[in-house]
Amino acid sequence: MALDTSKIAVKKLDRMMAEIELARLAEEIAEHDKLYHQEDAPRISDADYDALRRRNGEIEARFPDLAREDSPTRKVGAAPAGRFAKVRHAKPMLSLDNAFEPDDVEGFFQRVRRFLDLPADTPVEIVAEPKIDGLSISLRYEKGRFVQGATRGDGVEGEDVTPNLRTLKDIPERLKGEAPDVIDIRGEIYMLRADFLALNEARVKADEPLFANPRNSAAGSLRQINPAVTASRPLRFFAYTMGEASGPVGKTHWEFLQTLKGWGFHVNPKAKRCASPEEALAFYNAIGAERASLPYDIDGVVYKVNRFDWQDQLGMVSRAPRWAIAHKFPAEQAQTVLNDIGISVGRTGVLTPFAILEPITVGGVVVSRATLHNEDEVARKDFRVGDSVIIQRAGDVIPQVVAVVMDKRPTDKKAPPRFVMADVLAKGHKHPACPVCGSLAVREAGEAVWRCTGVLVCPAQRLARLSHFVSRLAFNIDGLGEERLQLFLDKGAIKTAADIFTLRARDGVDAEPLATWEGWGPQSAQNLFNAIEARRKVPFERFIYAVGIYQVGEATAKWLARHYGDLPTWRQAMAQAIIDRDKAPDEKKPEKIGGEFANLCAITGIGIKMADDIIDFFREENNQAALDALIEAGVEIEPVEIIQPPADSPVAGKTVVFTGTLQTLTRQAAEAQAEKLGAKVAGSVSKKTGYVVVGADAGSKADKAKSLGVAILTEDEWLKLIGEA
Ligand code: IVH
Repeated sequence: MALDTSKIAVKKLDRMMAEIELARLAEEIAEHDKLYHQEDAPRISDADYDALRRRNGEIEARFPDLAREDSPTRKVGAAPAGRFAKVRHAKPMLSLDNAFEPDDVEGFFQRVRRFLDLPADTPVEIVAEPKIDGLSISLRYEKGRFVQGATRGDGVEGEDVTPNLRTLKDIPERLKGEAPDVIDIRGEIYMLRADFLALNEARVKADEPLFANPRNSAAGSLRQINPAVTASRPLRFFAYTMGEASGPVGKTHWEFLQTLKGWGFHVNPKAKRCASPEEALAFYNAIGAERASLPYDIDGVVYKVNRFDWQDQLGMVSRAPRWAIAHKFPAEQAQTVLNDIGISVGRTGVLTPFAILEPITVGGVVVSRATLHNEDEVARKDFRVGDSVIIQRAGDVIPQVVAVVMDKRPTDKKAPPRFVMADVLAKGHKHPACPVCGSLAVREAGEAVWRCTGVLVCPAQRLARLSHFVSRLAFNIDGLGEERLQLFLDKGAIKTAADIFTLRARDGVDAEPLATWEGWGPQSAQNLFNAIEARRKVPFERFIYAVGIYQVGEATAKWLARHYGDLPTWRQAMAQAIIDRDKAPDEKKPEKIGGEFANLCAITGIGIKMADDIIDFFREENNQAALDALIEAGVEIEPVEIIQPPADSPVAGKTVVFTGTLQTLTRQAAEAQAEKLGAKVAGSVSKKTGYVVVGADAGSKADKAKSLGVAILTEDEWLKLIGEA
C-alpha cells in the first residue's frame, strides 16, 4: 500500500512521510488554485483550503530543508492564502427585483406611491439607466483617495481586488474636487464586445481556453492573482450608486450622477430622468431597439427613484431596495439553419448531440454550435437537419436552440428525416458506435443518455479514465495526478492504461528520456517508475474497480472479485452471460434469463441494470483487447478467495452490523465469517439492516436498531443462527 500521509498529524510525521505529504499538498493546493482562479469553480470551502495551506506551512516549519521549489508558500504575487482576502462591505451590496412586463413596471410605480402615501397624481420622478451586463464592485475612497476595492461576493462580503482595480484607467486614484471623507462608489466592471472578441482571438492563437461572453471575460480578467494580467485586459467601469458615505452627496440620484462625473468617473451617458411609467417604458423600448448596436452588453434597464429622501423612506426588503427595479430584456433570439447534428463525447463517455448551425450573431456573440442536451430533447422538439431554427441567448447562458420554424420545413416527402441517435451512431458500423473511438455505444432503459462503453480505449475519456485507474482505491499509483497524466497524453507517451506499465521499458527509446523533460530530473523520473513498479501487482478487486465499468464502484468490485476469484474465470463467465442475455434481450427478470447472467445478478449489490452495464463492457472487443494489453504489459492480478455462500445460508444477502465487544470471536473474524455466509457487513444501522449483533457495552447502534425495529441478536443468538453454536 502507498503510504497515505494525508491523515497523519503533523507532529507524527517522520522525514520520509513529510516529504511525501509536502508533495501531495503542493499538487492538491495547485489543483484547487486552478479550480478557483482559472475555472471559477472551487471544489472545497475556503476553510478547508486554508487548512491545507496551514498544514503545508506547519510541515515546512518542522522540516525547513524539505520545503519544495514549487511549494505553495513560495508562490509570489499570491494574495493572502493564495486567494483574495475577504472584505466586509460597510453597507451590503444589494440586488434588484426584476420586472419583465410593462405591468410590472406600472406596479413598481404604484407600490412606491402607496408606500410613500403619495396622491395618485403626484409625479414620481425616476432615473432610467441601461443595466450593464458586467460585474459589480465597490470602491472605497478615504479623503479622496482610492484605498480598497472589492467584488460583490454574496453582497455582504466580497473579495479584495484592490491591486487589480488600480490598473483600470476608469478608476481614478484620487477624486477631483470636494468629496465626503469616506465614500464607497459602486458600479459595473465590463468589457466592450469588440475588446472581448479581440481578446478571444488572441487566446485562440495562444491555444488558451476562450471566454464565453464579455461578462465572463471581464470577471475572469478582474479576478487574477497577478495584477499585471488584469492590466493587460481592456476593462472598463461605469459608476452608478454608492455604499457608505460619511457626508451628504446631493439630494437626488441624478445630482449624484453629475457629482460622480465631476469626481472623474464614467457615468452611462444614456441615463435619463422619466416622470411616468409611460416615459420609463418609452426609454426601455428605445434602449431595446439600440441594444444590438451598443458597444457593450446590457440585459435590461434599471429604474431608480430619483429623490434620496424618498429612497431612504422606501428602504429595502429582503436584500433589494424598494426604490429600484430592473426591467429585463427578453432573451435575444435569431433564426438560422441547422446544418447538421454532431455528437460529442464527454470525459466520462456520455454522448451528447449538438447543433451545428449556420453561424449567426446573437447578442453580440457569433453562435455556430449549441447543445441539444440528449436524444429525447431532440425528439421532443423534433429538430431535423436542414431545419430553420430559432436560437436564443439569455444573459450569460450558453446559446439554446429553442424551436423549429415549422413553416419553413418542406412538407411531405421532401421533409428531412427524423433524428435517430442509434442510426446516426451506427453509420459505417455494425452497431451504434462512439464517434470518437468506435466502441459500442449503449443507451439503457430509463436513462436519457447514450454512453460509450470503450472506457479503456476512448480518447475522449482517456484523461478521466486514466485518472481513475491510478486513483487511491484503484491502482493507487503515487505521483500520477491529472496534470502529469495530461502531459504524458500530450507527449504520446501514454495512450492506454497498459502504457503506464511499459513507460520505463520504453523510456528514451523513441523520444527524449523522461529525466530530461522540462520540470523533471533523474530523481523524479526514478520516483515515478518506482511508484509504478510498486503497483504492478494488484488485488483482483482493485483491478475490477480500476477498469472503470459504468456503475461498478469499490463495493461492487469487491463482491465481483469474491464471486469470480480471478480475471480468466470472470471473463469466461461474462462471455457466457452475454450469450444468456442475448436469448432474452428485453427480459427484465434475471430469474427468467437464467444462466451466468442470473448468477451475475445474484451477486450482492448487482441489479439487472448494472449487470447489463458489466456485460456491455465485455461485449466491446476494444475493452477485451485492453484487458489483454494490461496482462501483456506485466500487470499481475492477485486472485481473491472465492466466497460462495452456501445455498442454505440463513444470512445470505442480509446486512449485518456488529457492535460492542464480542466474547468468542474477534470483530474481524466475526465479520469475515458473516461475509463468507453471503451477508453484507455494514458499519452503521439503517432501515435496511437485517441484524444487529450486540456484544458487551454496545452503544448507540443498538439503540438505533431498537428505534428502527431492526432485529437485535446477542452473540449467542447470532452463532445459533449461523449454525456455529
Ligand atoms: S443599481 C441597490 N444600476 O445589476 C441597487 N445596478 O440585478 C444596486 N447593474 O448587482 C444596483 N447596471 O451588478 C444598478 N445601472 C445599474 C446597473 C446595475 C447593472 C447590475 C449590478 C447589480 C445587478 C442587480
